[in-house]
Amino acid sequence: MTGRVADKVALITGAARGQGRSHALRLAEEGADIIAVDRCRDYDIADYPMATEADLAETAALVKATGRRIVTARVDVRDAAELKTAIDNGVGQLGRLDIVSANAGVCVIQSWDEVTTQTWQDTIDTNLTGVWNTITGAVPHLIAAGGGSIVCTSSNAGFKGLPFLAPYSAAKHGLVGLTKTMANELAPHKIRLNLVVPTAVATPMVTQTTRLADLLEKHPDQIAVFQNALGVELLDPVDISHAVVYLASDESRYVTGMELTVDAGSLIR
Ligand SMILES: NC(=O)c1ccc[n+]([C@@H]2O[C@H](COP(=O)([O-])OP(=O)(O)OC[C@H]3O[C@@H](n4cnc5c(N)ncnc54)[C@H](O)[C@@H]3O)[C@@H](O)[C@H]2O)c1
Repeated sequence: MTGRVADKVALITGAARGQGRSHALRLAEEGADIIAVDRCRDYDIADYPMATEADLAETAALVKATGRRIVTARVDVRDAAELKTAIDNGVGQLGRLDIVSANAGVCVIQSWDEVTTQTWQDTIDTNLTGVWNTITGAVPHLIAAGGGSIVCTSSNAGFKGLPFLAPYSAAKHGLVGLTKTMANELAPHKIRLNLVVPTAVATPMVTQTTRLADLLEKHPDQIAVFQNALGVELLDPVDISHAVVYLASDESRYVTGMELTVDAGSLIR
């Protein structure tokens, strides 16, 4: 098998649609087998739907069409025990684990005085604790494989104070500390950790809600901070997948503890 991640096994959370599906497909096209997990259930806090089991099945069909194997599990990354079982089961079936894309996330756009305790908790639990659960569930398998690459999905909101995203921005900033700390701790095991940092991407998280547009209409003074230097409003999921494939592959074998921005210049603003 040829490919940039040939015969490796990749775990992807939030893989039923959007960026996670795109990462699964690109990694499979480059020769990896896939363990795909997704919650496939809506949140009370979010005004847009999460993925469905049919979405996860479609990801599986698309990966299989590349000729690679895939194991799917309907799991919430907030449940460390269930996630660990799913990872162990996937590794049991596919034989090893080399790559992790900690990608699952939820984003609720609200001004600070609209944020409820539930929004705060669900967002931190999924976008920060869920990544911790993913890393800790995966690392024993990466150690067993002799090393590996973990790519955590942050956001431009993880590096600047995007308005109306307080819990989300806090969680995504938290990933920076988590990734850099674990990159130090796990370096002796030849495990690398990096962040991929997208600006807005055309996925249901953005396309199936109008909350940001509504808030910006009321607060036009906040529009500028959302604008990308390159002028584009929404990236394609595959733009982020190209960065994930690079960070997952041995092409980046000496890159660790870094953030790879795919942000159309959002952060130079
Ligand atoms: N879309 C954007 O503009 C954008 C920008 C920067 C960063 N991000 C980040 O990219 C990642 C992927 O998001 P996306 O754009 O593909 O959005 P998306 O909503 O299409 O995909 C997110 C996926 O995660 C799943 N998910 C949500 N909570 C989960 C949980 N607790 N356990 C397991 N699965 C869960 C959803 O069902 C969905 O399939 C997220 O971490 C998001 O925060 C998105």
